[in-house]
Amino acid sequence: MTLSTEGSIKKLREVRVKTFEGGGAKRVDAQHEKGKMTARERIYELLDPSSFVEHGAFVTHNCDQFGLEKQKFLGDGVITGYGTIGGRAVYVFAQDFTVLGGSLGEMHAKKICQVMELAIQNGTPIIGLNDSGGARIQEGVSSLGGYADIFYRNTLASGVIPQISAILGPCAGGAVYSPAITDFIIMTQTTSHMFITGPDVIKTVTGEDVDFETLGGADTHYSKSGVADASCIDEYQTISFIKKLLSYIPQNNLEIPAIIPTTDPVDRADPELNSLIPDNPNQPYSMREVIKRVCDIDSFLELQTSFAKNMIIGFARLSGNSIGIVANDPMNLAGVLDINASIKAARFVRFCDAFNIPLIVFTDVPGFLPGTDQEWRGIIKHGAKLLYAFSEATVPRFTVITRKAYGGAYDVMNSKHIGADYNIAWPTAEIAVMGPEGACNIIFKNEISKASNPDEKRKELIQNYKDTFANPYVTAQKGFLDDIIEPKLTRKYLINALSVNKNKRKILPKRKHGNIPL
Ligand code: HXC
Repeated sequence: MTLSTEGSIKKLREVRVKTFEGGGAKRVDAQHEKGKMTARERIYELLDPSSFVEHGAFVTHNCDQFGLEKQKFLGDGVITGYGTIGGRAVYVFAQDFTVLGGSLGEMHAKKICQVMELAIQNGTPIIGLNDSGGARIQEGVSSLGGYADIFYRNTLASGVIPQISAILGPCAGGAVYSPAITDFIIMTQTTSHMFITGPDVIKTVTGEDVDFETLGGADTHYSKSGVADASCIDEYQTISFIKKLLSYIPQNNLEIPAIIPTTDPVDRADPELNSLIPDNPNQPYSMREVIKRVCDIDSFLELQTSFAKNMIIGFARLSGNSIGIVANDPMNLAGVLDINASIKAARFVRFCDAFNIPLIVFTDVPGFLPGTDQEWRGIIKHGAKLLYAFSEATVPRFTVITRKAYGGAYDVMNSKHIGADYNIAWPTAEIAVMGPEGACNIIFKNEISKASNPDEKRKELIQNYKDTFANPYVTAQKGFLDDIIEPKLTRKYLINALSVNKNKRKILPKRKHGNIPL
């Protein structure tokens, strides 16, 4: 029967209400009981009030097997659309666990692909709120194909628009590879899990006993695997973290990040920095304190804090400008470079380079970590990742050597030789092929062993080596440092450098793509 205009509007209203029901009140209650929000609540929490515009609210699956013909839910278990965060447009999708466990079938995947394509086309970030039982079993290969369609678009979007994944529930099997290709993964403690195969399969195949949380909970991926960039205590913190993260990032690779006005003076000197480096070169100090004192007040947002702790990465601001920080942490393994630290920093450097975020490196590194464990696991290739990432980065790049810069690690940590734009050292810097003790034991082996008092001789030679190399002056004489500055003035020097380099243009030789050692 044809409806009157009034009747058709009434019907629209009724159907529209149904799109808000998800999998029904019982399943929504179950979701809340787990401490989880519904997909729609998450979107409203993420976006500016009233800014969400939904796409595809009436989409349903097209599967008529295994009982699915009787279970059609409007939206097909994923809510997609766009809105704003702090006035900036973003596309978003949120999987609805109350509908068939948020599982991904053909139409569900199509909806996600559609917003991904629009985000690429319109140059906006895309944010995925993941909460899903994975491939929709009833839809078979259509589900697998749907995932592959998403992975493909994740890859096309990489380096073009920022892609952020929140994990807010299960994320299992091949499904983890969409978040893995995105730029950042933010997990929620106790309610989110990521793994390729779950505890049951692991038990069957390897006999290993492991629970969900230990296998793939937020803390595991934040501290052990390095998969998660942040581990948040609940969904509110997760969503708030995403908003903060986004504030450092531009809309796309053709834009620069927004400048956030600050009351922190450009020329603020920090006398405490002049006494921060201990007299004893083997005594650690807080590199985070250095970063916080140099950057705009309260602007440092650290990522992956609990993974590869010997390397610090994160965003901060200088005079309101977004910057990427890469720093060795003398408090952890003396700031040595190892496999995990290299990989962690390399990926971050590439993100910053792709999205026009200048890089600032604070160096205090005794070298690469020696040993069979590192060698056999490929430190040669993995360390090369960081070298490669810095070398190919064309954003403005600056280095501050606070103390040690030894061996290959001196080269790797954004040295002038690999294209850094402005490199400065504090007077406490020690730059050499290796530390004084190791160096003298090698080059003066005979002289020491033949001396009447070898210990005395060793001490004398070490002192001589220190006087010659364990300072920044030799490096500065060769022009490998642009300046040696008082630590307290670091902020001012870096802000000046940022200002003069802001229009930097560097064109690399034309090629399809490089071949970073993977
Ligand atoms: C269809 C699914 C589903 C799935 C869950 N559901 N997963 N429906 N396909 N993959 C449905 C359930 O039938 C149930 O429907 C509802 O979602 C909630 O599920 P529960 O099991 O009741 O919830 P919970 O106890 O919280 O357990 C959640 C879970 C579990 C841990 C995710 O459901 C589970 O193990 N699901 C299967 C996970 C899985 O193996 N997925 C395939 C991974 S392989 P009702 O009607 O009762 O509400 C994969 C390959 C991707 O994804 C490959 C890409 C290349």
